Amino acid sequence: MINEQYFQEFPGLKTKRLFLRQQELKDASFLQRLRSHKEVMRYMDSDEHRDLKTSEAFIDRNLESFQKKNGFFWVITALASGNFMGDIILHKIDRTNARGEIGYTLHPDYWGHGYMTEAMRAVINFGFYDLGLHRIEANINPANDTSRALLLKTGFVKEAYFRENYYYNGQFLDSEIYSLLEKDFKRE
Ligand SMILES: CC(C)(COP(=O)(O)OP(=O)(O)OC[C@H]1O[C@@H](n2cnc3c(N)ncnc32)[C@H](O)[C@@H]1OP(=O)(O)O)[C@@H](O)C(=O)NCCC(=O)NCCS
Repeated sequence: MINEQYFQEFPGLKTKRLFLRQQELKDASFLQRLRSHKEVMRYMDSDEHRDLKTSEAFIDRNLESFQKKNGFFWVITALASGNFMGDIILHKIDRTNARGEIGYTLHPDYWGHGYMTEAMRAVINFGFYDLGLHRIEANINPANDTSRALLLKTGFVKEAYFRENYYYNGQFLDSEIYSLLEKDFKRE
């Protein structure tokens, strides 16, 4: 079911305004700036990147995960300038059930212009029609209203609310689970 050819050569994705390319070590300083920004990290429930080394290790892990055929880790860049804007991932690829999980972050300089809707749609198109997924999942902090709005806008439906299933920073946190099925997505 899964088209393994996309793990041979990393798939860059082009949209009207964006180019999504593979993360590289040279992106570490931008990723550090993104993932140490208080507003960006507010509902991520993961550690902020305090120094460059943390971001380099993060990129290394992502590159390794791609090599092991577990997921795709893109940086989002502006098509015209090549400027770094954010990141987006499709990971936890489950071959048996043709499932994957999506995750995304955008620098606040670019919020509210439809950029993540555009990037998501490209990744979803890739996931369903190139990679061969049947279902894409997303997991959010229930307080993350913007991320929920983005998911609903791209066609995801809420299918679970897990109480205190995630332990982070000394607290048990709730999660909302969303999913999108291939048959429910309008192809571009
Ligand atoms: C979530 C995030 C990626 C959205 O990116 P974005 O490019 O601003 O999103 P879009 O412009 O495509 O907007 C999509 C929808 O989200 C909602 N939205 C966007 N910005 C919003 C804001 N400031 N307040 C409330 N809703 C907002 C709107 O419903 C919007 O659709 P509309 O423009 O048709 O009304 C961005 O806010 C972000 O990086 N947040 C921090 C990291 C994060 O929480 N990631 C998700 C972890 S699960």
